[in-house]
Amino acid sequence: MSNYVERFSTRERVLHWFVTAAFITLVLSGLGLYSRLFTGYFDFFGGGANAILFHKIAGVLFFASSLLLFFSHGKEVTTFDEDDREWLAGRGGYLSRDEAHFNCGKFNPGQKMFGIFIGVATLALGLTGIFIWAPLAFPRWLVQLSLLVHGLTFVLAVMFTVIHVYLATIGNPGTLEGMLYGYVRRIWARKHHPKWYREVE
Ligand code: HEM
Repeated sequence: MSNYVERFSTRERVLHWFVTAAFITLVLSGLGLYSRLFTGYFDFFGGGANAILFHKIAGVLFFASSLLLFFSHGKEVTTFDEDDREWLAGRGGYLSRDEAHFNCGKFNPGQKMFGIFIGVATLALGLTGIFIWAPLAFPRWLVQLSLLVHGLTFVLAVMFTVIHVYLATIGNPGTLEGMLYGYVRRIWARKHHPKWYREVE
């Protein structure tokens, strides 16, 4: 019996890394639009006008691919059961020194909430992005509200993504393998997602 078990298909992994590349492009090209402090980042794109062009293209690609990613695991991230409620009541074990034993399915509730947040944030960023893209075609108040919502959602998305990257790498060794190669160690699956492991066994 192999020591590994399949976690993500090639399609899921390509989609995830495509979303990540679009997200990084959006952050780098958008920071200078967010505050003058970051206009130095425009140099990555050969100036401000180019950065805006990159932001628009990456925005459309991120919108489409992120929604696809959401719908590819939509059912898993939007259903919470009794075991998830236990996980939430115990804060996932993150605030305790004791070894936590939770009966998690494919994704734990923290991951589910992150998945739902990214889905909602994608809609909010995409919708407000349309109003900011063609400001003269919409009422002034709508464009100004959109700038506020776009900026706030951006800050939250970056914060939660930094936490996501930490937990998917240094925080939980062995997790990244699944998104890189498609397979995780059985011992990892049994420890972090026992209910899912029993299902795929
Ligand atoms: C260098 C950056 C990133 C790394 C290293 C990374 C790593 C990972 C890994 C290893 C998983 C699988 C977790 C598991 O098997 O339990 C995962 C899942 C996921 N990632 Fe990322 N990721 C990155 C960036 C992003 C970005 C930018 C987004 C979206 C904006 C994103 C959205 C997701 C989603 C929605 C999932 C599904 C499970 C969940 O909700 O946590 N990731 N990521």
